[in-house]
Amino acid sequence: MTTYLDAVTALGTGSLHPGGFYHTLNVLNQVSLSVEDIVLDIGCGTGRTACHIAKSSGAYVFALDNSKEMLEKANYRATQEGVQVQFVHCDAGETPFKSKVIDLILIESVLIFLPAATVLRECNRILKKEGILICIEMFANKSIPRIAREQIQAACNLPQIPSFEEWLEVFHNSGFLPVKAHRNNFPGFFDNIRNILHPDPYQVVSQGMSSNREVSKVMYKYMRLIQTHKKYLGFGTFLMRKS
Ligand SMILES: C[S@@+](CC[C@H](N)C(=O)[O-])C[C@H]1O[C@@H](n2cnc3c(N)ncnc32)[C@H](O)[C@@H]1O
Repeated sequence: MTTYLDAVTALGTGSLHPGGFYHTLNVLNQVSLSVEDIVLDIGCGTGRTACHIAKSSGAYVFALDNSKEMLEKANYRATQEGVQVQFVHCDAGETPFKSKVIDLILIESVLIFLPAATVLRECNRILKKEGILICIEMFANKSIPRIAREQIQAACNLPQIPSFEEWLEVFHNSGFLPVKAHRNNFPGFFDNIRNILHPDPYQVVSQGMSSNREVSKVMYKYMRLIQTHKKYLGFGTFLMRKS
């Protein structure tokens, strides 16, 4: 059975998170990074954010994912962009990094698919004292009908869809203090236009997948559900410090 993550992996979409690349650029404007910094992108997908950070800041960038196919596409992007990113194939909950070595961790639409507390415990272990954690994750308002929540969870294999407040609690319980936490509406017309102005030149669609019926079915179902229940959904941008 083709899952949502299988489908987006086959399509090789860059910036697979609510708000897209445009939102990532805005968020990254809020932190200053230099060649001295070590950055880790967890669940990097096709590596668009990781490559951008390496190129724009000169920081040393690691990017990890548990999908070899995603990492192949990310490697292709890095080569095309002529940037140095160290890609790591591993699980987000169990990384090969020593403790307290990373200055900034970025997680864009990954925690929602996973046991979030386990991944955050790992982030806490590998971040330096006062290190920064940035997360962009979808939330559902508490008023979302049970059936809608169940349909979205089933369509994307999500173990949870926390509310904005529940995300804050998970971060707090994992030892992170919010510096800024922002509720965002699900991308509307103008956000989509802004992202159209940032097309991804290095998207690699796996052979034959753009017309694959299973992939189309999964993506159609996902988009229809999100569109239908948009008023209950949003995404949080959480900029935090290790406490
Ligand atoms: C929705 S995509 C987001 C990709 C990327 N962060 C972005 O915004 O474009 C989720 C990513 O998390 C990765 N992922 C899922 N489970 C993982 C795990 N246990 N460990 C590491 N990566 C994982 C998937 O392979 C996928 O690349």
